[in-house]
Amino acid sequence: MSVSQLEYDKSTHFYAEIMNSFKMDFSFYEDLIETLKPKSILEIGCGMGRLFPIFMKQAEEITGIDLSDEMISKARNYYASQKNVKVNFFQADMCSFQLNKKYDLVVFALSVLKHLKTDVERFRALENAKAHLSDDGFIVLDHTPFLYTSKSTNWIDAKNSLVATWLSDPSILDGYQWKKVVEGNLDILQWRYNDSGETEFETKFTTYRYDIDTLLKHFNQLNLNHECILTEWGCNGLTNKGKRFIGLVSHPNKYIPVQEIRAKVLKRNERLCSDNELYKDIF
Ligand SMILES: C[S@@+](CC[C@H](N)C(=O)[O-])C[C@H]1O[C@@H](n2cnc3c(N)ncnc32)[C@H](O)[C@@H]1O
Repeated sequence: MSVSQLEYDKSTHFYAEIMNSFKMDFSFYEDLIETLKPKSILEIGCGMGRLFPIFMKQAEEITGIDLSDEMISKARNYYASQKNVKVNFFQADMCSFQLNKKYDLVVFALSVLKHLKTDVERFRALENAKAHLSDDGFIVLDHTPFLYTSKSTNWIDAKNSLVATWLSDPSILDGYQWKKVVEGNLDILQWRYNDSGETEFETKFTTYRYDIDTLLKHFNQLNLNHECILTEWGCNGLTNKGKRFIGLVSHPNKYIPVQEIRAKVLKRNERLCSDNELYKDIF
């Protein structure tokens, strides 16, 4: 069993409580879905289907694949009573899955490619996404070379950190702390629940650095067209202070509606936080 599968299999409770509440990317996906109007969506590394309620606003069929049996099992439970939209979940590895179907939108959210250890695996996952992409379809990919901050050897109270800006109710972070270890290509994020000095729960997520230059090189090798739309959540990234690639990928010669989506994001951005605020404790 891979490290990632073990870690996510045992972190479902934490994921359900904390990570499923992250909403920093919701408005972007809403704008995207409204613009592209995909009828079928495939999410690769879907977790518990955090983004599925947004996908359901347009799609008639949504499929999620994830390596972790536990995440898939929770996702199936959440969406079991869903009647209006066809929702499927499969336990599968993003490097090797084969669904024999093509989708209007293929999603890689929250830097899922960082769970893969080598360039060969990451290339394979992208190649596989391309194989499941309809001729007129798009891949949307959110990628950061590092998970939310540079390293931190001390435990940080989550409610006083960047993470709190991603939640509508930061009080759910009470008692939670995180820290991060960067060693060579390894980027390990640890979380714990430590109320009144007693650690009651601890978990970690191991990821591997995957630079945006290499990601773009892989798109080019796969003859995929690509456009970056934003470089950070919350703020629109048009000031180029962000570090993420949040963008669209398509078959060559397909028009990518970057300006339409940016215009929608900018409109909402009036009520979003400034770059300065967002970056005060990172990099
Ligand atoms: C950070 S979570 C993101 C979940 C979801 N995309 C979201 O936005 O909430 C990463 C997910 O990738 C899955 N994953 C890790 N390695 C994978 C692989 N090789 N194939 C498929 N899924 C994988 C994990 O099990 C986990 O559910």
